[in-house]
Amino acid sequence: MKRITIAIDGFSSCGKSTMAKDLAKKLGYVYVDSGAMYRAVTLYAMEHGCFDGLQLNVEKLRNMMQDIHISFQFNPETGKPDTYLNNTHVENQIRNMEVSERVSIVAALDFVRTEMVAQQQAFGKEKGVVMDGRDIGTTVFPDAELKIFLTASPEIRAQRRYEELKAKGQEASFDDILANVKERDYIDQHREVSPLVQAEDAILLDNSNLTIEQQNEWLMKEYLKRVED
Ligand code: CDP
Repeated sequence: MKRITIAIDGFSSCGKSTMAKDLAKKLGYVYVDSGAMYRAVTLYAMEHGCFDGLQLNVEKLRNMMQDIHISFQFNPETGKPDTYLNNTHVENQIRNMEVSERVSIVAALDFVRTEMVAQQQAFGKEKGVVMDGRDIGTTVFPDAELKIFLTASPEIRAQRRYEELKAKGQEASFDDILANVKERDYIDQHREVSPLVQAEDAILLDNSNLTIEQQNEWLMKEYLKRVED
């Protein structure tokens, strides 16, 4: 069967990564979480004194970009690739609230995006890739054969993120998460470089009232339509 490129974009905490990971596993495709890459750059910036509170020293980060190396290694326990920053495992750290509060500031920078997009395109060079993010169907892989744009209400998304963090033993308040979800939506949609927008040829899915199984089934049908004709 022909191998294709699958782009899954949408708002924060919609369940993009669950959907993308499950499909990649079924198809034997590579799964790339592009948000993890922006999160890793943000963690590096925080650890190297580029932030004073929420204030970012952009020039300091610009000069450090060449020292930031991000890679992924498949974790058989979770069935997902874990993120490594300069060969250090950072998968858990990059998901905490401190990083979430800063990542959209870092992801709005043109020099950060140029570098990340180039790496993402290299990951997908051979096709057979499922990538999730904000600009995969518009900027990274505008020619992807299957493009999904995922959304759900902010309250449902915040609830899902709250449960996810709680399951990992990370403390966070629902109200803080909801505020963060809305704040990131706003920054992601209004930034100048590659703002979050539905690609013209993307299919919209609101999964507010779908179970994971229902959304996976829906996605598999969409995939089959693309490869069977
Ligand atoms: O998991 P969640 O949807 O909350 O976010 P994520 O996918 O981990 O992405 C974290 C942040 O990185 C987003 O809020 C965006 O600001 C940024 N991002 C981006 O700008 N472009 C991408 N392709 C992926 C993420």
